[in-house]
Amino acid sequence: MIESSVVQTPLLSVRDISVRYAKREVLHGVTLDVRPGEIVAVLGHNGAGKTTLLNTVLGINKPTSGSIEFDGAPVTSRSVRANVLTGMSLTAAERPVFRELTVVSNLRLGAYGAKGLSKADLEDRVEDVFSTFPRLRERSGQLAGSLSGGEQRMLALGIALVSRPKLMLLDEPSVGLAPAVVQDILSTLAERCETLGMSILVVEQNVRSALRVAHRVYYLRMGAVVHDEISAVAAERESFWEFF
Ligand SMILES: Nc1ncnc2c1ncn2[C@@H]1O[C@H](COP(=O)(O)OP(=O)(O)OP(=O)(O)O)[C@@H](O)[C@H]1O
Ligand SMILES: [Mg+2]
Repeated sequence: MIESSVVQTPLLSVRDISVRYAKREVLHGVTLDVRPGEIVAVLGHNGAGKTTLLNTVLGINKPTSGSIEFDGAPVTSRSVRANVLTGMSLTAAERPVFRELTVVSNLRLGAYGAKGLSKADLEDRVEDVFSTFPRLRERSGQLAGSLSGGEQRMLALGIALVSRPKLMLLDEPSVGLAPAVVQDILSTLAERCETLGMSILVVEQNVRSALRVAHRVYYLRMGAVVHDEISAVAAERESFWEFF
């Protein structure tokens, strides 16, 4: 686990960003960091602005003010494609897999656009996902649309892993899954990310499932960060009502 006292250059640095849809501002001066190898959770209720935040980091939304740096370079003026190629991946909360394709075809698509990746290297990465989530190997020829919810979530994370991002952006991985299943999948992912040195920014409403894997948490209420702390401190809290 990364000690929060260790001073490290952040991999992702979000500084005072505001985002609006038409005339309505939905993020108000949000600041947060993700350090290399760190798993950071942003917790907030429906409509708090979690998906908007992830979309802004990836470049789908442009902030009206503030700045975002990823891996030492400003990202807000770059295209989504450029941000993906420099090492970000976003796993959406809804419909995260190609339902009409097989499991293995979904995984191969994870490396779409990766320059200079040989077929052998691609197959190694797919194999690595199969070792991480053996259930996917058993189902490799099955259509993704016929997988269970938990298996689809594993596949979605597998697609992201194949691109070997420096930063995985995860939008509510707990949605629709039993807590034990979420826990299992996220701990497996966290272990793999630790080995590969990847960072994760995960947004969640499900506080407990996020706290089990995150090193640090931010609380987002109505588009503003109201508090942040290390997970060990958050885990001792009896309630989170003051942050939501
Ligand atoms: N494309 C859009 N156009 C206009 N308003 C939007 C758009 N997308 C989101 N919003 C509004 O911005 C606010 C934040 O939405 P967002 O989807 O970021 O919240 P969220 O925290 O991800 O919520 P949930 O937990 O329900 O997914 C909401 O009030 C929403 O209605
Ligand atoms: Mg959302």
